[in-house]
Amino acid sequence: MPVTTPAARAAAPSPDTAMPQDFGALLRQDPEIGAVLLAEAGRQSSTLQLIAAENFTSPAVLAALGSPLANKYAEGYPGARHHGGCEQADAAERVAVRRATELFGAEHANVQPHSGSSAVLAAYAALLRPGDTVLAMGLPYGGHLTHGAPGNFSGRWFEFAGYGVDPDSGLIDYAQVRALARARRPKAIVCGSISYPRHLDYEQFRDIADEVGAYLIADAAHPMGLIAGGAAPSPVPYADVVCATTHKVLRGPRGGMILCGVEFSERIDRAVFPFTQGGAQMHTVAAKAVAFGEAATPAYALYAHRVVAHARVLAAALESEGFEVTTGGTDTHIVVADPGPLGVDGRTARERLMAAGMVLDTCALPYGDARGIRLGTAAVTTQGMDEDDMARIAELFGAAVREEGDPGLLRAEARGLAERNPPYPG
Ligand SMILES: Cc1ncc(COP(=O)(O)O)c(C=O)c1O
Repeated sequence: MPVTTPAARAAAPSPDTAMPQDFGALLRQDPEIGAVLLAEAGRQSSTLQLIAAENFTSPAVLAALGSPLANKYAEGYPGARHHGGCEQADAAERVAVRRATELFGAEHANVQPHSGSSAVLAAYAALLRPGDTVLAMGLPYGGHLTHGAPGNFSGRWFEFAGYGVDPDSGLIDYAQVRALARARRPKAIVCGSISYPRHLDYEQFRDIADEVGAYLIADAAHPMGLIAGGAAPSPVPYADVVCATTHKVLRGPRGGMILCGVEFSERIDRAVFPFTQGGAQMHTVAAKAVAFGEAATPAYALYAHRVVAHARVLAAALESEGFEVTTGGTDTHIVVADPGPLGVDGRTARERLMAAGMVLDTCALPYGDARGIRLGTAAVTTQGMDEDDMARIAELFGAAVREEGDPGLLRAEARGLAERNPPYPG
């Protein structure tokens, strides 16, 4: 029985904090790009944002991103910069590092990676040499590009072996991971995925890594926000290095971060700067600090749990609509569904859903060649939607994919749902 509305509103951004940007001034100075930004704001607030990797940052995070720290060059680390005038840059980074280590219970944090991919690149640079073997989730099962894609640096510079999932349950087959680790003797094992909707058993990954003498790298780009809010288990006690993004469920600025123990801290810091990056983006570092502060609040913990509850409602309701949900459900914000039983594959389903005002991704399915759809509940939960809304979204999905009814009416309903729950009220 959906009963979440008041609490869902409590977990949403405060309505008295509207978006800080002055679009009027920008439109007057640069009508061409001003119009683009206005149109994007309109798109985000008039359609349903169901991309699992996206969210709405708070106005405070946006304010930090648009702050004068955007002007500052700050190569190096606090107290050891190559540029002058870094007092406030140092202060911002120290706050971000302190909050990250406290939030995740880690000994060391590096908050400079420009993105999740940059964080993974730095982790590999710190622990591996070109040609080393790495065991990671295979790309057809949800591995990220940085887990050995041929067109990515990872696939070019390292020998990747890929583990998969059990074809019947869709769950990671830890016996297969162990067997592959024994056979390939990797230098590192990577656990983390773009579409695996279940919790990872980090303790088991640690045990396998220890058996073969491998480093364990957790790529927690997706669950990091759930971990911050206590809604998913943490890899920090088990992995040598944890890489993550600060956007997604964590609701910070687009960027990356790395956590590790003191024994790896120097190697990680050197791998970020100067090995793979130059000057840090200090406005983004300040915005990460703001997001970590927000994520440490009880309201955020409520939000993280609500994100998962909403994904579970959505998964169950999609099954009732005839979609086949991989692994039979979810533990996280991610739902992966096969629209095959409705007679279409993921690409066609996405086209029909986009036409009806619902924005989402396709993704590989852990069996066969057809693609499925991947959706997430982080953004709609930030907007304050509730379990009734999730059930209605699943009905709209069913109608749109089956091409029932007038697509214009479906689009109007999706728009109404989005506009009743504005991401930036006011
Ligand atoms: C598991 C995983 N690793 C790394 C990344 C890369 O993050 P970015 O797009 O910020 O480079 C992602 C992004 O979705 C991801 O899901």
